[in-house]
Amino acid sequence: MILSIESSCDDSSLAITNINTGQLLYHKKISQELEHSVYGGVVPELASRLHAVALPQILDEVKEYFPKLKAVAVTNQPGLGVTLLEGIAMAKTLSVVLNIPLIAVHHLKAHIYSLFIEKEILSPLLVLLISGGHTQIIRMESFDRMEILASSIDDSVGESFDKSAKMMGLGYPGGPIIEQMAKEGDEERFALPIPLQHSPLIAFSLSGLKNAVRLLIEKCKDKDGNIAYQDKCDISASFQKSVKLHLIQKSKKIFQKESIEDFAIVGGASANLYIREAYQELCTKYNKKLHTAPLEYCSDNAAMVGRYAIEAYNRKEFIDPNQIDIVTTKKQSTGSLL
Ligand code: KG4
Ligand code: ZN
Repeated sequence: MILSIESSCDDSSLAITNINTGQLLYHKKISQELEHSVYGGVVPELASRLHAVALPQILDEVKEYFPKLKAVAVTNQPGLGVTLLEGIAMAKTLSVVLNIPLIAVHHLKAHIYSLFIEKEILSPLLVLLISGGHTQIIRMESFDRMEILASSIDDSVGESFDKSAKMMGLGYPGGPIIEQMAKEGDEERFALPIPLQHSPLIAFSLSGLKNAVRLLIEKCKDKDGNIAYQDKCDISASFQKSVKLHLIQKSKKIFQKESIEDFAIVGGASANLYIREAYQELCTKYNKKLHTAPLEYCSDNAAMVGRYAIEAYNRKEFIDPNQIDIVTTKKQSTGSLL
């Protein structure tokens, strides 16, 4: 069995996975959304302290598995330095004390492996990764061949939802809140720009749209600075529509070039059913099969870390506990996913 640990942002999560069968034997996640919502975003120092409390609490529940563990896996990049540190400190300690190998897991690759939890691996595969930190289209040929085909030149999709929600005083995380508000809104009421619409660039950009949302919010405010509930719903719907049209327009360009028949959406924002629906339509049109992870494994979790770790274990990709690095670098726009 493998014990896997996730602490790259604001979710403390542990999982136990059977290496031979792929079966997920234990999975728990303690989310910090409530604690961060008052700030409208993740406060790294607070997140780190909350991991320091939550991770040992969860670990206590899996002690019975210790004698059966063959390895411990942990997310080491990319993410927030002070939060990655919490998971890594725990993983290093377990590796040394239990005398089992340590596996370092790339967070974005783990998101891709959320598709394969308790399932066979599917490749080659085109993947749209939309999370709080990243927006990329990746061509996955195999475990160690993943190429970034397009990425955001500024904000990520999740970030644009979070920031728009924050500007309307809706709380954190903004994605699920905006998706809900949009259901009550009129997406045709405001004409927000579709990013890079007239650009030949095969890339994503969300910061201009965020700025347009900011200006729109200002326009909708009454003399006391308040915005009517219906206006917030209409802004949410119009914003979400622009994000969708942008993603679809650029994905279409990739679909025209790539013949791979399987396409997947992963990452926190892939839980958005409005976006999923649009991709279902696009895939049908281009004869591609759409794959998504179960909703509970879209946002950060240790189950996907464990699934990736099975493959790393079988390849004996271990790392010396004294050599494991924390890599916080956020922007990798082209080339092989490192
Ligand atoms: O993958 P994830 O849990 O963490 C990172 O790796 O960043 O993604 C979190 C992001 C947040 O920005 C959150 O607002 C967004 O995913 N998100 C959504 C939805 N649910 C979560 N965005 C749009 N619609 C949703 N339903
Ligand atoms: Zn993530």
